[in-house]
Amino acid sequence: MVRDLGEEPMSRRHCILTGAFVLLTISITVADGWHGSLTADAQIAGLTGNWAVKTPRPDGTTSKVYLNLRQEGDKISGTIRSTQFFYNISDSVIGPGGIITLTGTMKDGKSDRTVKYEAELIGEELHLSTRRRPEDKPMQSVARRVPNGEGAMPARIPLPPLKKIPYNGLAKTPPMGWNSWNLFKSRVNDEIVRGIADAMVTSGMRDAGYIYVNIDDTWEGETRDSQGNITTNSKFPDMKSLADYVHSKGLKLGIYTSPGPNTCAGYEGTYGHEEQDARTFAAWGIDYVKYDWCGARTLYTDEEMQAVYQKFGEALQKTGRPIIYSLCQYGRSDVWKWGPDVGGNLWRTTGDIGDRWDSMTRIGFGQNDLAPYAKPGHWNDPDMLEVGNGGMSNDEYRTHMSLWSILAAPLLAGNDIRSMTPEIKSILMNNEVIAIDQDKAGMQGKRVWQSGEQEIWVRELSGGSHAIALFNRGAAPAEVSLKWSDIGIKKNPKSARDLWQHKDIEISGPEYKVTVPMHGVVLLRVGK
Ligand code: GLA
Repeated sequence: MVRDLGEEPMSRRHCILTGAFVLLTISITVADGWHGSLTADAQIAGLTGNWAVKTPRPDGTTSKVYLNLRQEGDKISGTIRSTQFFYNISDSVIGPGGIITLTGTMKDGKSDRTVKYEAELIGEELHLSTRRRPEDKPMQSVARRVPNGEGAMPARIPLPPLKKIPYNGLAKTPPMGWNSWNLFKSRVNDEIVRGIADAMVTSGMRDAGYIYVNIDDTWEGETRDSQGNITTNSKFPDMKSLADYVHSKGLKLGIYTSPGPNTCAGYEGTYGHEEQDARTFAAWGIDYVKYDWCGARTLYTDEEMQAVYQKFGEALQKTGRPIIYSLCQYGRSDVWKWGPDVGGNLWRTTGDIGDRWDSMTRIGFGQNDLAPYAKPGHWNDPDMLEVGNGGMSNDEYRTHMSLWSILAAPLLAGNDIRSMTPEIKSILMNNEVIAIDQDKAGMQGKRVWQSGEQEIWVRELSGGSHAIALFNRGAAPAEVSLKWSDIGIKKNPKSARDLWQHKDIEISGPEYKVTVPMHGVVLLRVGK
């Protein structure tokens, strides 16, 4: 139901008020000319209690928002729980017509989060209006009373003392594969994953090295079974058979969960079931788990993240199955310093990528300082690829792919592998660029030169060769000149390999000059 409260005349709002008894009187003059005196203890006195908005999702699960309210006089306190967030009501204002504005706040790491709801009691329904961002249209919903205790946050479980989880021996080079989130979000299902697995083989992606097929958020069932096992929703009827299918294609299957009670999309999380879920994943045949902070933010501080991630790292290792452990907590708390200690093979270094030039470049070009932390088995993860999703030009996607390879980043395609254009295939399956990413020395590249919007990044490769990326972040073609001495190459090379042109180029002298397209890249390999 979508109803824009902002457009509803105040006088009508007043008319639809229902209420009973009266403790305080408010005199109101509002902009549209309605003047009134409202005696209103009334409809708000009835607010005390536990309220829920329950919205069925097409996968058989329910999205739930809980407002646990306590009303004393004109003051409303309590909590609001919505997807991964749990707010304390820090302010309540009774406005014209008895519309109550509730402000919820919560600590999220170093920042504060706020939510605002406009609430109006109509009979036994609590009509709510909220906006994700102030500029968004309001979203309308109706809450109804539910028993006390329903939707309460679980108690905080104490964390284990810190220790080192031994390296699992996986991800000697950055993991490669596909992930459902960037394109499919909550639309991912069994059929799509099977179709993607088929296409990974027929398109050549598997043979190019893309092995992991990773299901992201929204596969989880509404509730756990009577033994507390996590279940799947109607989009994934049989995870074990899906894993068998993916394995039969010579691929591996990845899954997603959260250390919190809820995932980022508000589905069931692993909180309090760490060993049990790790065992379930192993029994299904899962080969890769992304563990996304999400709902854990309401129970633990950023300083406690390491112990939270260690707990699941240990649970994964106890299963005895080789499972890649992917930490996703948006690069908070210097995760690169402790990621390997919790058994992590990769850790996100930033918030979510978008299929936009500004998002991709802000993330990609912001990784320079993290180079020392990447090594075989343990990688910085600047998030998944957007190549082929349509929001950037092919030159921009070549920049994306080149930069991620220079960064020794995991290469998880995020597009529809079933319907790739030849151009997109040639970007994702450029074997010479992939070879840079997968170089076995595992040294992350760095920026060595910058002038305005042009940058040169260099990655040292095994055997003493170098990958050199000349980037033009500007909105017009630009000449970039590369002095070999500036990038630590002492002897002027005679030739280089252009990895996008797929050709050897002759070089002479101490400098190499080339025109780089707008938002484009020239990627060279020098030395064998
Ligand atoms: C977070 C993660 C994303 C994705 C979504 C799923 O935003 O950072 O990569 O997994 O959650 O809800």
